[in-house]
Amino acid sequence: MDWIERELEALREENLFRRRTVAEGLKVFCSNDYLGFRRNPRILEAVKKALNLYGLGSGASQLVSGYTDAHRDLEERLARFKGTPSCVLFGSGYLANVGTIPALAGEGDLILSDELNHASIIDACRLSKAKRLIFKHRDYNHLEDLLKRERNTVRRVLIVTDGVFSMDGDIADVKTLYEICERYDCMLYIDDAHGTGTIGKGRGVLEKQGLKWKEFVILMGTLSKALGSYGAFVCGSERLIEWLVNRSRSLIFSTSLPPLLCVGALEAIKILEEDPFLVDRLRDMEKKLVEGLSSLGKLSFKYFRTPIIPIMVGDEGKALEIAASLRRKGVFLQAIRYPTVPKGEARLRLTASLSYTEEDVDFLLSSLEEILK
Ligand SMILES: Cc1ncc(COP(=O)(O)O)c(C=O)c1O
Repeated sequence: MDWIERELEALREENLFRRRTVAEGLKVFCSNDYLGFRRNPRILEAVKKALNLYGLGSGASQLVSGYTDAHRDLEERLARFKGTPSCVLFGSGYLANVGTIPALAGEGDLILSDELNHASIIDACRLSKAKRLIFKHRDYNHLEDLLKRERNTVRRVLIVTDGVFSMDGDIADVKTLYEICERYDCMLYIDDAHGTGTIGKGRGVLEKQGLKWKEFVILMGTLSKALGSYGAFVCGSERLIEWLVNRSRSLIFSTSLPPLLCVGALEAIKILEEDPFLVDRLRDMEKKLVEGLSSLGKLSFKYFRTPIIPIMVGDEGKALEIAASLRRKGVFLQAIRYPTVPKGEARLRLTASLSYTEEDVDFLLSSLEEILK
């Protein structure tokens, strides 16, 4: 097993070695807990009651005995929330993608995937027996060129995109994707893990872009980011959901979510629906961060009116150095490197969260200022 040491050494030399950091004791500025729901008292209270009612785990997969009224209620609520006829839960976003995409496209089909899609989508495409082609990031002319070339040579086509791109924070142009899908008879899979709870009034990319769900759209989202819980879901037509229940291997062959996590996510959706200004407050928090970063002068960052605000560093070693200096000051801003992002595009993925106080923001900005001196 000496090869492991050699491979690890190669990673270290390229500044691509990864280690985990215990977050306790640090002020975290890079989580996906955009609305602060991870510690929302009302959600935690509902979860405590659910713990007494349901116990800890679900005990089995959904198709055996692991499907409770907590699962069913959450699915029904999510379908209404997202404006679709039906919904099914998955154990995580990773499991939703690797379970759904291969169930929709197989041998004789084509998957067209945006080059900056999340790794779980890349793995899902690899698991499918369909032909796979990558289109340039948000370049829908390129996508159309591929369709012109390939459409008549394949049976079904599945176009796959993140709603909000997880490492850049920009948003897919779903209106254009709708037009393309209608012109070329394609299915559209949208992974709105980061759009759920953060754009529109919280319903995600369709609401943000004034679009209604259509039958050819498969809408995936996670419970683990703005909703503060864990798990994921896929929304779509009744027959799509029935198909997934029958064909999605990560749903069929994996234990279902603990019911208490479903209860937590349900409470999160209720709060989002009752408070139409939550997302506006998140935008205000983003603005505070963006203005602060601009006033520091020396930083290059991206901002697309989503809570993902990557500070672009480029060199992997430099990104690690800045992250380590910040950590010594008590600030946790993780360096994101290849293969999560392309080589030479390392970044500190700053995120906005309603859990930050004024003091937290000042602490982050003054720490950055001292390091950049
Ligand atoms: C766009 C996207 N899809 C899917 C996932 C996977 O979700 P989960 O963490 O629930 O497995 C993530 C994040 O982790 C993500 O950013």
